[in-house]
Amino acid sequence: MQNNIFSGLFVGQNLVTLKEVDSTNNFLKESLSNSKPFPEGTVIMAEHQYAGRGQHQNVWHAQPGKNLTFSLLLMPHFLSPLQQFGLTSAVSLGVYDALHPLLGDALKIKWPNDIYYGNRKLGGMLIENMIQGGQIRNSVIGIGINVNQDNYPETAGSAISVKQILQTDYDLKNILAEICNHIEGWYLKLKAGKTADVRNTYLSRLYRLNELAQYRSNGETFEGRITNVTDTGLLVVERNGSEELYNLKEIEFINT
Ligand code: BTN
Repeated sequence: MQNNIFSGLFVGQNLVTLKEVDSTNNFLKESLSNSKPFPEGTVIMAEHQYAGRGQHQNVWHAQPGKNLTFSLLLMPHFLSPLQQFGLTSAVSLGVYDALHPLLGDALKIKWPNDIYYGNRKLGGMLIENMIQGGQIRNSVIGIGINVNQDNYPETAGSAISVKQILQTDYDLKNILAEICNHIEGWYLKLKAGKTADVRNTYLSRLYRLNELAQYRSNGETFEGRITNVTDTGLLVVERNGSEELYNLKEIEFINT
């Protein structure tokens, strides 16, 4: 049977669907030591991920069968460890472009790679890069998107799903195919050296860019304005008239 919803050259062409797994990232990472590893572009998708992992050692919860939980294998040998943020940006843009026709301009990329709708989190990524010989050898890109889930526990914070926004169920495979096709497009741009395009488009989609908002760093809450993101992925925030750089662990976004 022809697989025509995955219209790219390689991303998603090898799709493995698992009924149940601890974490698709773990599964894909473990597979890399097999004598015959998966080809680049392989996607491992789980119907039920019972120990999903999020950023900052958090747990990623998703009701079985209702959400997208998958990991994609890329081999960006053309990137050095210092260029990792290019990959983060390209993947974020792929997810953004896949969802934008459904959700419109309230969709944003929250630095570094969360997908936001208004002030609420629609999805996230856990990108694990394996470095060897000054290059990124393998990249396991875990993506979780809240699609058809109707409700979230208090502990899920600001989570929201596509269904809560549009009041309709969506076919998970169709959304997955769109995400894969768009990630491939941005990944090939990155590979072709169009880094300025990736960078500028990423910035133009950024949550809170140039808006005055509340942040916390070093136990102190302050008002600031995101003005940029550096090539290596540091967040640039204007605070008291000067520009400060933050890495992921150094700044928290506050919602008032
Ligand atoms: C975040 O904290 O925002 C990142 C969430 C990443 C979740 C996805 S779901 C598929 C893949 N497998 C995992 O264990 N985590 C990622």
